[in-house]
Order: sequence, then structure tokens, then C-alpha cells
Amino acid sequence: MPALKNDTLLRALRREPTPYTPIWLMRQAGRYLPEYNATRARAGSFMALATTPSLATEATLQPLARFPLDAAILFSDILTIPDAMGLGLSFAEGEGPRFARTAADERSIAALAVPDMAKLRYVFDAIAEIKRALANSLPLIGFAGSPFTLACYMIEGGGSADFATTRRMAYARGDLLQRLVEINAQAVARYLGEQIAAGVDAVMLFDTWGGLLAADQWRRFSLAPMRAVLEALPNLVPRRVPAIVFTKGGGAWLDDLAASGAQCVGLDWTVDFATARRQVTDRVALQGNLDPMVLLTDPETVARTARNILDAAGTAPGHVFNLGHGIAPATPPEHVAVLVKAVHTHSRELRDQSCDG
Ligand code: CP3
Repeated sequence: MPALKNDTLLRALRREPTPYTPIWLMRQAGRYLPEYNATRARAGSFMALATTPSLATEATLQPLARFPLDAAILFSDILTIPDAMGLGLSFAEGEGPRFARTAADERSIAALAVPDMAKLRYVFDAIAEIKRALANSLPLIGFAGSPFTLACYMIEGGGSADFATTRRMAYARGDLLQRLVEINAQAVARYLGEQIAAGVDAVMLFDTWGGLLAADQWRRFSLAPMRAVLEALPNLVPRRVPAIVFTKGGGAWLDDLAASGAQCVGLDWTVDFATARRQVTDRVALQGNLDPMVLLTDPETVARTARNILDAAGTAPGHVFNLGHGIAPATPPEHVAVLVKAVHTHSRELRDQSCDG
């Protein structure tokens, strides 16, 4: 792979010194951008947008045209895998994801298999097209849902306030849930392997709902299959790329996450950054962790809160600035511009000061 013009993100993931702290944002392409809403309207549906490589490329590049972000993230969704397994995914306007079929009992779970990667070809084609469009300017991040987070949607048939069916299964039918997450782990490993082969420069595992589990259940049903994914990757594809693992609500399990095999651990906003850094020492890079609600305040509050996180993170290598979860659709794009500028400016200032001092 040829060198990237801006490889700040990859250096930070490798915990090498960088001239400033790189920043990208979860859901940086999305409904807070009017141009995204226009593209989505043109596509007709979220799935049409995600399955048409030229439109997925357009959506991926939109935030980069507005803000000097340090990475692109593939425009897609974590639920492409259960869709390829035959569960029938759709997104109704203004609603969350819906599956036509669930995988919630003995029979439906026994019938699941790792999908033919040809069904996900639109994702790998989008990656190739995005890489051509980026022309080595910035790294491209690929991603997948954690095996457990995918299981949550497959069991419930969509989003849920409390994922009660899944959590009940964790206690009452651990054997079934285990089988489900093991199949998902094989599918996620194959899927990320194909994304790496298609050209992504880093991968991220979104464990959005792992934090709903009791600690021992999280280790069994979420951490173990994520480790299996990360261990399988080098055997599936020769190219090695850094991995980021993000368990929302996983602040109590930072030591486990630091030992997961990922090079970087994502933090949500409930975690104190300086404490997290002391805890994981230099084992992994850390990503995060601005509360996305801060972007709904005012420019001064956005800049001040971002500076506080940078101060807490210090100038030790290995910080990737991000939100603690996805950007809210009501976010004014101007506030994102303020955030990116504050992170770049203040992180340079901190490095200058630490050279003087
Ligand atoms: O970050 C990016 O810019 C890349 C694209 C991306 C999307 N989804 C696009 C999307 C990524 C990385 C995701 C991951 C994802 N999808 C997660 C994990 C991260 C997280 O937010 O916790 C989850 C749980 C999903 C499942 C999902 N997709 C839900 C629950 C919803 C509906 C709720 C919502 O936020 O709208 C989606 C739809 C979705 N995925 C949208 C986008 C931009 C909005 C749908 C639309 O345009 O109609």
C-alpha cells in the first residue's frame, strides 16, 4: 500500500508521536448533514444508499469536504451481516432497523450460517471506490458490529429499549446465545478480512450493547467472540491493520479490553480519560471521548470541553479524538467545525508547551 499524505490516525493507533491529536467522529456521515439527507432522499432508502457503491462513496466523502477530519469511515451499517444471513433488513423512515425474521429460538439459530461474502460484495466494491476517490489523502476505517451487538438485533428483530429477550437468553439459554455469537464471530472475521483485502487501513468493532451485560456474561458472550475475531484476522488476510474495539458502557472492563488483541480501545464519555490512561498504561491507544450532547450546546462550550479532554489525555502518544458515541442528528454542522479546529489547535499548543517546559 502506498504511503498516505495524512497518516496521523495510523501513527496515533500505533502509539507513535504525532504533531497534533487526530480526530474523526462516529457517524460523521449522517443525518446532521443536509447533503447526506439529500443523497439519502435520492437513493430512496437507507439500504439503497448503503448497497450502491457510488452513493456510499458520496456519503463517505461528504463530511471530509466540510471538515479537516483525519480519517474517513466507510459508509455502511453493522446490520449488513444479519441481512446477508437472510434475516431481511429494512429501515423505515424515521424509525430504527427492522428484520423480517428473527434468530431467537433453537430452530432459527441452528439454521444460521456464515453468509457467502459475495452477498456483501457491495461493501467491498464501495471500499475500493472510496480508496480510489481518497487517492491516498487519508486513511479509511472499516468496521463491523461485535458478535454480541449483532446478536441483540437478530434476537429482538430490531432495536429495543432494554434488549430484554437477549438478556433473558444470556441467563436462561446461554448455550443458544453462545452458538449465535460464535457464528457471528466467524462471519465478522470473514467480513473484516474482506474489508482489509479491499483496502481499509484500520478496522473498528462496535460493541454498542455489550455494556448491558453482567461482567461475567460480557466476558463470555462479547469479549470472547471479539477476541476470536481479532485472532482469526491474520490467518484470513496477510495484510495487518490496526483494530479499535469499543464497548459502550465498558468503562469497568478497560483491562479486559486492553488485552482483547485490539491496538486501540474506544471510551464513552462516562470514563475519566486521565484515569483510563493510567489504568491501561501504554498497552493500547485510546479513542474518545466527548459526550455527543456537547455538540448541541454552543461553540465556546464545545471548544472548552474538547480542550479539557485533551488536557486530561496529555501529550503521551496514542490518543485518537472522537465522540463517546455517534453524533446526534440535531447537531449543527458549525459546531463540528469548531470541535475539529479546537482539537487540532489545542493539541498542537500542548505539544509546544511540553517541549518548552
Ligand atoms: O460512522 C459513520 O459515519 C459510518 C456509518 C455507520 C452507520 N451506522 C450509518 C447509519 C456506522 C459505523 C454505523 C454503525 C451502527 N449501526 C451501529 C454501531 C454504532 C452505534 O451507533 O452504536 C449500530 C448499533 C447500528 C444499527 C443502526 N443503524 C441503528 C440502530 C440505526 C437507526 C438509528 C439511527 O441512529 O438512525 C441505523 C441507521 C443508520 N446507520 C443511519 C446511518 C447514517 C441513519 C439512518 C438513515 O439515514 O435513515
